[in-house]
Amino acid sequence: LDGANRSQPLVGMRALVTGGPTHEPIDPVRFLANRSSGRQSYAIAAALAEAGAAVTLVSGPVALSPPAGVERIGVTTAVEMLAACEAALPVDIAICAAAVGDWRPLHVDAMKIKKVAGKTMSIELAENPDILASLSRHPQSRPRLVVGFAAETGDPLREAMAKLERKGCDWIVANDVSPNQGVFGGLNNTVTLLRRDRPPEAWPTAEKTSVAKRLVAEIALDLVGEDF
Ligand code: CTP
Ligand code: CA
Repeated sequence: LDGANRSQPLVGMRALVTGGPTHEPIDPVRFLANRSSGRQSYAIAAALAEAGAAVTLVSGPVALSPPAGVERIGVTTAVEMLAACEAALPVDIAICAAAVGDWRPLHVDAMKIKKVAGKTMSIELAENPDILASLSRHPQSRPRLVVGFAAETGDPLREAMAKLERKGCDWIVANDVSPNQGVFGGLNNTVTLLRRDRPPEAWPTAEKTSVAKRLVAEIALDLVGEDF
């Protein structure tokens, strides 16, 4: 291959990346969310585009600009994120890095909920669709390579291995999101790459942009059989 193809091994491939948190409305002024900054997913989308892939980034609400050459589709809820992902198919590569809310309020109030002095308050939650599992088990358009993330605070490797099986994806990037690790909102990430039939690879702590580049290099090696 010539030099241009060597640096852009994913030319001709389509990639889908999910990123950011979801916001699940409670009433017109409130929502359930989480601490995802979107940084890791935006870095992955940028690295995939640099490697030549046509990238769709389905993103929850974050304070980041879309990377150059990436088509960003902004969504708010998990249900919207799933629909946007379905609409982006078929793709060769899917990377689910979003911190999708596991639940949404079962009822969304049309009016602002008023407090009642001295009373506790509870919100009933319904389970959200699992986007990673849906893509991994897609009946018509399963991407060639489906990669998930696993944010864990307990025993990250064990939990992530179980997740790989449960969700049916090909790879899992496991990261320890214990509060002292500073992953959420931070610039660095410490991850372990889990792949079927291969020993886990613990990567040294690195900037999220470096983790993204290394992940994309592994993807190119796997799909194109090429180092770049
Ligand atoms: N994920 C998803 N849709 C969901 C929940 C999770 O696509 N509704 C994806 C995430 O983007 C990530 C992977 O699944 O790639 C693992 O997410 P995680 O929250 O760690 O796993 P869960 O299956 O939700 O389990 P739990 O939060 O209970 O550990
Ligand atoms: Ca979850």
